[in-house]
Amino acid sequence: MPAFAASAPGKIILFGEHAVVYSRPAIAVPVNMVRARAAVMANPAGPPGQVQIRADDIGLDSPLDALPYDHPLALAVHLVAEQIHVERLPALRLQITSTIPIASGLGSGAAVTTAIARALSAFLGHPLTDEQVSAIAYRVDQEYHGQPSGIDNTTIAYAQPIFFIRGQPFERLCVGQPFSIIIGNTGIASPTSAAVGDVRKAWLANPDRLEPIFDEIGSIARQARKFIEDGLPERLGPLMNHNQALLQDLDVSSPELDRLIAAARSAGAAGAKLCGGGRGGNMIALVTPETAQPVADALRQAGAVNTITTTIEKT
Ligand code: MEV
Repeated sequence: MPAFAASAPGKIILFGEHAVVYSRPAIAVPVNMVRARAAVMANPAGPPGQVQIRADDIGLDSPLDALPYDHPLALAVHLVAEQIHVERLPALRLQITSTIPIASGLGSGAAVTTAIARALSAFLGHPLTDEQVSAIAYRVDQEYHGQPSGIDNTTIAYAQPIFFIRGQPFERLCVGQPFSIIIGNTGIASPTSAAVGDVRKAWLANPDRLEPIFDEIGSIARQARKFIEDGLPERLGPLMNHNQALLQDLDVSSPELDRLIAAARSAGAAGAKLCGGGRGGNMIALVTPETAQPVADALRQAGAVNTITTTIEKT
């Protein structure tokens, strides 16, 4: 059997994180510069039926059977086998690598699962559809995020800019004019589950305070959709700043994120906000060809461990 390889992009949420968990709309786009990759190859020389999983980025090299069923990499393999009704996998090696920083709001978990599902199902002769891959990535995220809205797996499995409302079919965004975003990494790993859990506690304690914040974030996402589709990306800046103020009200920003966001704005970004779960991880800033370099430099000076510039192309 030949080797099969697949890759999946990272993602950023342009508008609406956290509120999307409470069924308000959000907008997310794939980030192709960072990717998770999986390669599956037959291992006829290995022990019969042994599935060997290797992920050097996290120092893992283990037989599938030695991992807990719900270990994220193992669970991805089990769910693919279940989906295509394979009771016993042939002896194989699965290698996973990723350039997406872990626990930093860029969808690393969903991208790894997506790459595994695509490579393994192709290797087994039953390539899964985007919908099936997305559902598997959602199941794995559920184990680790508690209450995922589904926006990460959907953006990554379909690799499209999307307008997303939990529980409804997602809509592909038509991008009227291309625009560029700089992603700045605080270098602080921050599991999404913790931030999502804290917002839930705050909501349970005081729904009357949080519901209007979610509503306002949802209305920002709707306005942003219109500007993106109408080819007016320069008008997204103030919406990003407003969204960030509301995320601060939800207490999911952090001094490090606030510092990078302030630095990006001072260097000429039209708007900036955290992206993903927050508390650490990454922030994003809206830039033009003129402001891209000064903003990237300012982010580095303010402590960003890495910056990525990504362009959302016209669709
Ligand atoms: C995580 O990328 C985005 C959150 O809104 C959680 C979710 O939607 O599942 C914080």
